[in-house]
Amino acid sequence: MSIRIDKLGYSPKFKYSFLLLIIVVYFDVCKLKRKYKMKFFQQLQIKRRSVRKYTQELLSSDETKLILEAALLSPTSKNKHSWSFIAVEDKDTLKALSVCKPHSAAFVADAAMAVVIAGNPLISNACVEDASIAAINMQMQAEELGIGSCWVQVRSRNYSETITSGEYINDLLNIPMPLEVVCVISFGKKEKERTPADIQNLRWEKVHIDKYEFEPENGDNTEL
Ligand SMILES: Cc1cc2nc3c(=O)[nH]c(=O)nc-3n(C[C@H](O)[C@H](O)[C@H](O)COP(=O)(O)O)c2cc1C
Repeated sequence: MSIRIDKLGYSPKFKYSFLLLIIVVYFDVCKLKRKYKMKFFQQLQIKRRSVRKYTQELLSSDETKLILEAALLSPTSKNKHSWSFIAVEDKDTLKALSVCKPHSAAFVADAAMAVVIAGNPLISNACVEDASIAAINMQMQAEELGIGSCWVQVRSRNYSETITSGEYINDLLNIPMPLEVVCVISFGKKEKERTPADIQNLRWEKVHIDKYEFEPENGDNTEL
């Protein structure tokens, strides 16, 4: 059943004011929705921090799928998809991954999942960039799901004096040549929420407009 406003017996002035009110409210709601959408990605970026302490909880298969889809949706140079992803959930393998370098990887042992990202330099000479973009996309997707993550640098890192971290992981996970591991991203439910980034304290001195502006030599913000 539909009720038509002109059948309710209100005066034309009331009817037009009512319609006007509806139109104003409609446009205000649209404006608010647009503003919310505009800020949504920034809010996500502010909230994302590297999380290295995880609960025991596992990720659901839907969460894992969304994170891996974020990787596969990532843009790649010349659309060559130079990457491969190895999703690791096995506890012993996570433990073995956590010693791929002497420092800053130990937390991988407690992650619910780690994704090893390898690039193929024979497919693309931008494979490191391709892998890095996929890595951050997975991290942002995880954050949207409330899942913590942290990047573990593998490229140019060493397992021991004679073995690189990449060689160690290739051997551990059966990754064939010429694939080179760029990084490992650990994922897990956050033990606690970290302080968000401070949007009021960004390094705006890193931004130059039109051309690179050198800071005065004795200035506070000298980068050189
Ligand atoms: C290229 C790259 C390599 C990183 N390598 C490591 C690492 O090996 N181990 C680690 O604990 N964190 C690593 N991180 C995380 C950084 O330490 C972290 O992003 C940085 O301190 C800023 O903190 P936030 O992520 O909480 O904003 C790495 C991050 C990037 C982007």
